[in-house]
Amino acid sequence: MKVLIINGPNLGRLGTREPEVYGTTTHADLVKVCETSGAEVGLEVEVRQSDDEAQIIKWLHDCADTTTPVIMNPAAFTHYSIAIRDAAAMLTAPLIEVHISNPHTREEFRHVSVISAVAHGVIAGFGVNSYRLALKAMSDLLVR
Ligand code: DQA
Repeated sequence: MKVLIINGPNLGRLGTREPEVYGTTTHADLVKVCETSGAEVGLEVEVRQSDDEAQIIKWLHDCADTTTPVIMNPAAFTHYSIAIRDAAAMLTAPLIEVHISNPHTREEFRHVSVISAVAHGVIAGFGVNSYRLALKAMSDLLVR
């Protein structure tokens, strides 16, 4: 079973972006972690990153059409993109929202997610491990 992991804006800069918040793992390293962790729980994983809202919406449409499960870190779009939420609402397989940091411990504008209400669940605050936990959760959901 294939799972698409979608990473939103600025996550391509992991490694050098605010390491005190997001750690020092690069996006390329994160891709490897996700591929390895996916294989451990029986999932084929593809990781994509875009800074472009329209691109992310297109990927979500494709996942809706192909009943592909999605793990998404919408990054800053989490907090205001109704367009991404509406695309996510069309998904036909589970969606898990992930965050590296715990947005609830940060600035108030990060406390709202417009995505969570259309996600099966949310995993936040475990660093890059949030993705591993999300892959395990997705695997459990899919084999249930
Ligand atoms: C983030 C949290 C968001 O508030 C922020 O805009 C990001 C990353 C996280 O993974 O912790 O870009 O989604």
